[in-house]
Amino acid sequence: MCGIVGYIGHRDAYPVVVKGLKRLEYRGYDSAGVAVINEDKLKTYKKQGKVADLEEYVQGKQLESNIGMGHTRWATHGPPSDENAHPHASSNHKLAIIHNGIIENYDAIKKELTKKGHTFTSQTDTEVLIHFIEDIKLHENCSLEEAVRLALTQVVGAYAIVVMNEDEPNTLVAARKGSPLVIGVGKGEFFLASDATPIVEYTNEVVYLNDFEIAVIKDDKLSIRNTQDVPTNPYIQTLDMELEAIEKGGFEHFMLKEICEQPRSIADCMRGRLNAADGYLRLGGIREYAKKLENADRIIIIACGTSWHAGLVAEYMFEEFCRIPVEVEYASEFRYRNPVINEGDVVIAISQSGETADTLAAIELAKSKGAIIFGVCNVVGSSISRASHEGAYTHAGPEIGVASTKAFTAQLTVLSMMALRTAHNRGTISLSKYKELLVELENIPSKVEKALQLNDEIKVISEIFKDARNFLYLGRGFNFPVALEGALKLKEISYIHAEGYPAAEMKHGPIALIDEEMPVVVIATRDKSYEKIVSNIQEVRARKGRVIAVVTEGDDVIPEMAEFVIEVPAVNEVLMPLVSVVPLQLLSYHIAVMRGCNVDQPRNLAKSVTVE
Ligand code: M6R
Repeated sequence: MCGIVGYIGHRDAYPVVVKGLKRLEYRGYDSAGVAVINEDKLKTYKKQGKVADLEEYVQGKQLESNIGMGHTRWATHGPPSDENAHPHASSNHKLAIIHNGIIENYDAIKKELTKKGHTFTSQTDTEVLIHFIEDIKLHENCSLEEAVRLALTQVVGAYAIVVMNEDEPNTLVAARKGSPLVIGVGKGEFFLASDATPIVEYTNEVVYLNDFEIAVIKDDKLSIRNTQDVPTNPYIQTLDMELEAIEKGGFEHFMLKEICEQPRSIADCMRGRLNAADGYLRLGGIREYAKKLENADRIIIIACGTSWHAGLVAEYMFEEFCRIPVEVEYASEFRYRNPVINEGDVVIAISQSGETADTLAAIELAKSKGAIIFGVCNVVGSSISRASHEGAYTHAGPEIGVASTKAFTAQLTVLSMMALRTAHNRGTISLSKYKELLVELENIPSKVEKALQLNDEIKVISEIFKDARNFLYLGRGFNFPVALEGALKLKEISYIHAEGYPAAEMKHGPIALIDEEMPVVVIATRDKSYEKIVSNIQEVRARKGRVIAVVTEGDDVIPEMAEFVIEVPAVNEVLMPLVSVVPLQLLSYHIAVMRGCNVDQPRNLAKSVTVE
């Protein structure tokens, strides 16, 4: 949550910063601001609204500078407003800060500072931090970097910060704990950002800052030390990201682009890992601990949101093929329980961003109890990928739309490969079934391609239901998590209330909601519970509910009873979620567009939930 960008070098900083903010706007978009040092003065400009509102606001202002930073906010402390927007300045207006995270003990620090005469113009925890840094700097008579270091030794919470000082126009100081920060290393210039997307068009050399590290960029040099004042050598890595992957490429929205990219992203995810003809299946990131997974007594899956839904599908897969008991946990609940973790348990943590605060905290808790962690992340170098013992990247490419689509199907692809490989090595799957499923997996991209051809049909259905106030999504077995995912997609981008349920649970409550106005999306593809779900459809119809059924191509039973039928290609039921979710993604997308919603930046949400 919140995007931060910094620049120092030979270019004019403002255009670099503002372009970076646009790339990071998916992380939060209720206000934005910039700071530069122009004509020896620290200047900050900030505005409630989008980055575009900030751009309009700064028109005609003197912003030329070789140093600058900017922020796009997702409000935590204090509502969206000009005052609460970042950057925040110190009392003497010589220091400014941008921050992603939460300073938990800000109130105690604020009380102390207030006693000393500090006054505050915002309700944020961040403003308190910059006043605290200023206070230390004045009292210790030290450099900015030392004041930042001393302040951070007393701060509780999570942060990625960048700090500027009017008196040190050649210096940027940045630090992180719990929130991501990437440093791009160019020729005579440096970039700082919450992720690599603002950096990739300038350089592919990056340093991922670790927790408790402070980076000082001064006079064209980068140095890093930790909050204990111990220096470390910056580890420069090469970024594997194409510029086109973070641009809309002719699509109206990132979400649509990402839905349509799925045949390729799923294929990319399998590339070099799977070759069905040779029976080859390997995940390079899972080696040393592979036996731990194969011999696990229990698998605990931790995740949030869509990634949690992927975990539910994985539960069915691991139990079906590997015969290992699986528990799927919301990271936010798991971390605050006292979960029982025994020797022999392993944890799989799933996260697109790799930065979700609750998932990260749940990992740390599980690690402290001795668990081995396998991370399934999309963002390379992310905190969760680094906190895991081993894992597999989903390689879906940057996902910018707040609603997760291609990351979900890539997660399912990785988890299928993990489950099949583990089952094969444990000997809990027959060779013929194993080979059959490898072939099925390899064919998924073409089946998803076919499912995407349903777009026009789904647009027509969307038009009919765009004004509905509620939706019910039902599925059984492998399609139950797909029902949850379909409902989540619809509510987050179109603001229509939607609930996903296991179809059989309908009788235990939700059936009371069904009347002639209730659209009920039933994922009823051919599988072992097909007959049962046909009965569930009859029950909905008997109460005049409006059934939109997702069925397997060639089904001639359900079209007789459902009002609308969406036919997807036949796939083995285990892998069906990879295909059956596609029409639901398209349905939510079109309904949201027709309702005039901002699909890529839905209200109140942010792509990367780095606060709990
Ligand atoms: O980055 P993560 O996968 O850890 O994010 C988890 C959730 O915040 C995320 O899936 C969220 O639910 C999406 N907006 C769903 O579309």
